[in-house]
Amino acid sequence: MREAYTVGEDGGRYPAGSLRWMGTGPPLLFLVVLSLAELLVFDRYFSRNLSTLLTIALAAVGILAYGLHVSRVMERAERQILSMYREAAEQNRQLQALHEAGLAITSNLSLETVLHRVLDLGLAITGAGSGAVAVYDEDGQVERLVTRGLRSPLEASEMFALPLRYGDALVGMLYLADREGGAFGPREESAARKLSAHAAVAVMNARLLQQAERAAILEERHRLSMDLHDGVLQELYAITLRAEDALADLPAGSGALRARLEGIVEAIDRLEAGIRRTVQDLRSEPGRPVPPAQAVEQEVKALDLDGRVELETRLDPELRDLPGEQADALRFVVREALANVLRHARARRVRVELARRRQELLLEVSDDGVGFEATAAVGEGAGRTGAGASHHGLGNMRRRAERAGGSLRVESAPGRGTRVLLLLPLATPAARRR
Ligand SMILES: Nc1ncnc2c1ncn2[C@@H]1O[C@H](COP(=O)(O)OP(=O)(O)O)[C@@H](O)[C@H]1O
Ligand SMILES: [Mg+2]
Repeated sequence: MREAYTVGEDGGRYPAGSLRWMGTGPPLLFLVVLSLAELLVFDRYFSRNLSTLLTIALAAVGILAYGLHVSRVMERAERQILSMYREAAEQNRQLQALHEAGLAITSNLSLETVLHRVLDLGLAITGAGSGAVAVYDEDGQVERLVTRGLRSPLEASEMFALPLRYGDALVGMLYLADREGGAFGPREESAARKLSAHAAVAVMNARLLQQAERAAILEERHRLSMDLHDGVLQELYAITLRAEDALADLPAGSGALRARLEGIVEAIDRLEAGIRRTVQDLRSEPGRPVPPAQAVEQEVKALDLDGRVELETRLDPELRDLPGEQADALRFVVREALANVLRHARARRVRVELARRRQELLLEVSDDGVGFEATAAVGEGAGRTGAGASHHGLGNMRRRAERAGGSLRVESAPGRGTRVLLLLPLATPAARRR
């Protein structure tokens, strides 16, 4: 027997040979029976003509009935083949999605990309109209939430929640909702489960990659800080010593020259202080949450404003720790704004305020100095287009603020002092918990 199969009228599967038998056996048998009936029965009771007529009529009815029967069987078989084909196509789609999930694991993708891809695949293989994927950090808090069609998983009335597990650890959750063709069935569930297993590995993979990159950055920062410390700083120190020797050797009465030399020594001192601060920055771990008031205080102290301008600070000590990127932006803006005051403002007083405004953190640095045409300096493209190649401070402040999700405003006019305002969004308690 050959291994070919065909679909029978009752939905079962029969060897292809039986279909062949079905097409030839019954008609043959029918013909034999009909001929015998004509010979033995019809001819005996009816006239010759009537007997022939009767036989032909019976043959026609038989062929018609059998033909109808066969065509019905074929139609049913066709329907079944079609549904099997659809199922195969569906399985193919799922396999394709799983294959892509597998690729996502082995490619060097960021966590963000992995999450978007996993969610798209989840929607595609289950026919869900909306969904979300969340990943947890080590403390079990939601670290990142990506959604499609809904703002939070709690919004969907009926949904399907799948844990992303890596070993014993719960890495995250995949939520799917609003399936086109109705509720989620076992097939969707099984596909989504397979996907979630791949997704968990992909998330872990992206995390490890992130950590490796971070370690490389830290190492590079450390190397830079050592170069600055052991090379540039020692060099500057030696120059200062030589300048001070020269000062000591100056004959009495060279007042003007002495003043110029002292000015140079002071400038080198300031440069040294700046480099020391950079060295410290490079050694501190970037991205660690810090209390904002403390960050501002450190920056103010490092600038050494004493004697150069009168400083007033109002820092709300109750403010919650800021995530690393926001803290970095805050530090940068304080540093640059105060440096600008020292360098350009010729101010008598400067005021630094840090407070909470509704859902935002507000930093304000204001001085009573000469001011400038702020609209021109911080309009669109300032510090971006490179107009005034060396003046990047204002543009950089704004870029840092925007990268941290906030905004920066500079208010100034000639003779009217300057106000730099930084706004950073504060995480709401709810957003932190989820
Ligand atoms: N507090 C301030 N008081 C007066 N002028 C300022 C102040 N801050 C900035 N400016 C003006 O804006 C210009 C651009 O500042 P910035 O982008 O920080 O570049 P830089 O400090 O390198 O000059 C400065 O050159 C200065 O003219
Ligand atoms: Mg500047």
